[in-house]
Amino acid sequence: MPGFEYLGKEELKELNNLFKRDKACLFAHGFEKFRKRFHVREFEDQCAKKMKTKFALAVTSGTSAIKIGLKALGVKPGDEVITQGFNFIATVEAIIDTGAKPIMCNVDQSLNMCPHDLKKLISKKTKAIIPVHMLGVTCKMDEIKQIAKKNKIKILEDNCESMGGKYKKKLLGTLGEIGVVSYDFGKTITCGEGGMIFTNDKKLDKYVRDYHDHGHELNPKFPRGEDTVKIVGFNYRMTEMQAIVGKEQLKKLNKIIRENKKRYKKLEKKIKNVASFREEPKKGEQIYDTLILFMKNKKKRNEIVNFLKKKGFGTKNLPDAIKWHCASFWKHALPRNQIKRIKKTKNLLESSIAIPIWLRKSVTDYNKLGEQLHDIITAK
Ligand SMILES: Cc1ncc(COP(=O)(O)O)c(C=O)c1O
Repeated sequence: MPGFEYLGKEELKELNNLFKRDKACLFAHGFEKFRKRFHVREFEDQCAKKMKTKFALAVTSGTSAIKIGLKALGVKPGDEVITQGFNFIATVEAIIDTGAKPIMCNVDQSLNMCPHDLKKLISKKTKAIIPVHMLGVTCKMDEIKQIAKKNKIKILEDNCESMGGKYKKKLLGTLGEIGVVSYDFGKTITCGEGGMIFTNDKKLDKYVRDYHDHGHELNPKFPRGEDTVKIVGFNYRMTEMQAIVGKEQLKKLNKIIRENKKRYKKLEKKIKNVASFREEPKKGEQIYDTLILFMKNKKKRNEIVNFLKKKGFGTKNLPDAIKWHCASFWKHALPRNQIKRIKKTKNLLESSIAIPIWLRKSVTDYNKLGEQLHDIITAK
């Protein structure tokens, strides 16, 4: 599951080094006399290398990454931005924060953006589409990209939940104009809080870089105090401490996915003949941190959820935090017509159970869980 289960001595050693060797310089810029290294910049370079993008910018959170990305794409008050009904509130908040209007698209059996519904939502005001790769699984990116291209609309991929996942061998978060990930405490890898913005477009990178740091251009001709500025920005800078932890976590990403997969496959094998699962889009490679099954029978669903709770597995968002992940519940943020149009999404999510893959639990634990769930599902 998340990287926090693999937080340990490696991160601690490097944090200690930061205080001893690098004179506790916690700021991403300047102070050259005191330090030899710039950890935020190193983390960015390593993430860009990992994701095979030209640019990566570290910021304070996945939420700020989405907002900054939307601003870079030119989203402004009066525009519409389409995103999906199975999501996290952050995406809708980021759209609202730019002054634009969130338009909610239904999900399909993959529990990600439904391309057929997306087509119906395009209008003259649509400025961007945010497909969200929820809980480890890719959106149907070919179909979504085709619609975007035909209508000359930009894509910002919200890949906060699925770093390391792929579509057609390409890493999620690198398929649109901009992609973002989150490093908050529940994510695949974590540095407590944090996010990263990926792009291959030099102009977009320049905008997000300036914007996240009060407009600073980091003009090499001037010291920071006399730096040049062209745009009004804000402060969404990551600290050196976060970057140190992030760099160590990044080294563990492949192992986390590998270990997830072993547990996931054991569980899946035991119940695959008796349960129906979320659809996995063709040519996708997921990160195996959650197994989602559909269970329409309410009594049976409750039984499974209670069993998972009792055995210390719990559920991941569905149903325990459905109110934060199903847009039908966001009456404080969305107009009634948007809430009403994603009824199908609500029905699908309400009949789903998301089983988390914990790394602190063993492969044998998941094998046993599979056997027990098999019995519960098949019992009369
Ligand atoms: C789909 C999605 N988008 C955005 C975010 C926001 O990320 P952060 O918590 O880093 O702000 C999250 C975090 O839960 C998320 O799951």
